[in-house]
Amino acid sequence: MRAPGARQLRWAATTSATTEPTQGGQEGSKGTPTPPKAVKFTAESYPELKRDARFAEVTSDDVKFFQELLGSESAVIESISKDASDDIEPFNTDWMRKYRGHCKLVLKPETTEQVSKILKYCNDKSLAVVPQGGNTGLVGGSVPVFDEIVVNLQRMNKIRSFDQVSGILVAEAGVILEVADNFLAENNHIFPLDLGAKGSCQIGGNVAANAGGLRLLRYGSLHGNVLGIEAVLPDGTIVDDLCKLRKNNTGYDLKQLFIGGEGTIGIITGISILCPQRSSAINVAYFGLESFEAAQAAFKEAKGQLSEILSAFELMDGRTQKILSYVKDKKLPLEGEHPFYCLVETSGSNAEHDNEKLQNFLEHVMGEGIVTDGVVAQDQTQINELWSCRETVPESLGHWGGVYKYDLSIPIAELYQLVEDTRERLTKAGLVGETDEYPVVDVVGYGHMGDSNLHLNVPTRRYDKEVEKHLEPFVYEWVQKRNGSISAEHGLGIAKKAFIGYSRSDTMIRLMKQIKDLYDPKGIMNPYKYI
Ligand code: FAD
Ligand code: MLT
Ligand code: ZN
Repeated sequence: MRAPGARQLRWAATTSATTEPTQGGQEGSKGTPTPPKAVKFTAESYPELKRDARFAEVTSDDVKFFQELLGSESAVIESISKDASDDIEPFNTDWMRKYRGHCKLVLKPETTEQVSKILKYCNDKSLAVVPQGGNTGLVGGSVPVFDEIVVNLQRMNKIRSFDQVSGILVAEAGVILEVADNFLAENNHIFPLDLGAKGSCQIGGNVAANAGGLRLLRYGSLHGNVLGIEAVLPDGTIVDDLCKLRKNNTGYDLKQLFIGGEGTIGIITGISILCPQRSSAINVAYFGLESFEAAQAAFKEAKGQLSEILSAFELMDGRTQKILSYVKDKKLPLEGEHPFYCLVETSGSNAEHDNEKLQNFLEHVMGEGIVTDGVVAQDQTQINELWSCRETVPESLGHWGGVYKYDLSIPIAELYQLVEDTRERLTKAGLVGETDEYPVVDVVGYGHMGDSNLHLNVPTRRYDKEVEKHLEPFVYEWVQKRNGSISAEHGLGIAKKAFIGYSRSDTMIRLMKQIKDLYDPKGIMNPYKYI
């Protein structure tokens, strides 16, 4: 292990808050960005998807109604009476540049009452709707397929209240995650979710996707932390359930249907959420290991020795770090190459006590030969730098133009085996290579090891049906055989629509459909997606 302070890590920029939907996958390579390739329309990539003839097409009368309702000119972007396709494009195309819709109308309401009036109108007129937050979703759920209207929540961005004693935050759905967390930091609290897209994603989108992120291991799932929800149903009904109680055992907990519902039964307009006290002592260590078995041993030791102060345990394979270093032109924190890397974070309230625990842990894993080399951050800049080796992985993998992303829950002992098996399969099929004739650049794995959540990623030079055929249903069958889940945290959207049966029984799918029909009898909410 390097001596504390011996290593001055290079500065890495952190994400900053933006309000327009972002698109990734094209930036930041050694100052020479890959020229953006046109994104194919979803309807062309998936010709089996047909526009549902029950839905009406947007007319100029509809546009007039929404313009009068929303008042402000910037609240309506329309391509019905003029060509505004460039302005609409960011709302039509997803972050991976894999899915693209034909939407001609984007609405940005500012109040729950406006959302209610929008949905009631759409329901009465059979106009289909896609709720959209920061558009950072990774399963194609946040963009239209055909001409659905996008309702983007970015203008509903107020923090309504915060209770210093209970730590309960009430905020509108369009508040950007990083903005919410910065507000909480000023109040000595932390948002119980953190993820690489924090500068763009919205807390309503996080809840709708039931995002997991980097510290689920410590703070738990949004299903436990979200205490209340304000949402609008397709018929305009406002579900006013912004409960601020930790305990409330009074019948069905209906808010849970919106958490992870992916915008298929209504639009979330506000949430109340329990936020923990912010830890005053944070430590981050990054180390290299020789095998996945060693990574498991390190995790076991981390749980045993760091116990209540452990706040993250993340895994990156060597290939991921190599790609990151190449694309970002970044010097990695450790010399030499290692097949695996782990990032461990502790968060506690007593720096001396935490440092002692971490030192004991590191000495033990080094002494036992579990960890080959490592570095501990000495200040906030170095903490950010180490985290950037994990958080900027998704962006760097998009460098060549496309990524097939799989987000899986797998029993931990076999977690990495899927990456090896997939690599072997694609290599045997002659799809992986260094030059342009090969669609696949590499097959890599990283993820939230502390939650047994693997991100299997296949960066490609182009989205290619041949590659897709070799990956699906292979990956899903592999996971099903191990009783895993085909989606640990990203959801199903359109990407996994056809594969839900690999993780849910017929009975469960039937019950989900009944709920969908009950809340959204005309099916206008986020159609063509998983339900
Ligand atoms: P969007 O992408 O806009 O929408 C996501 C889904 O929710 C869509 O189905 C949409 O229709 C629906 N929706 C959005 N807002 C509402 C609303 N107000 N009411 C009802 N439905 C709504 N996910 C993780 O779980 N863990 C991670 O660690 C993680 N890291 C990421 C890192 C990067 C770089 C990127 C690009 C994405 C990452 N994601 C991660 C995926 C993504 O789920 C999260 O970024 C986030 O939860 C999505 O929020 P959003 O506001 O962008 O929602
Ligand atoms: C992550 O953990 O980085 C996110 O879930 C995004 C991804 O899977 O690439
Ligand atoms: Zn993740």
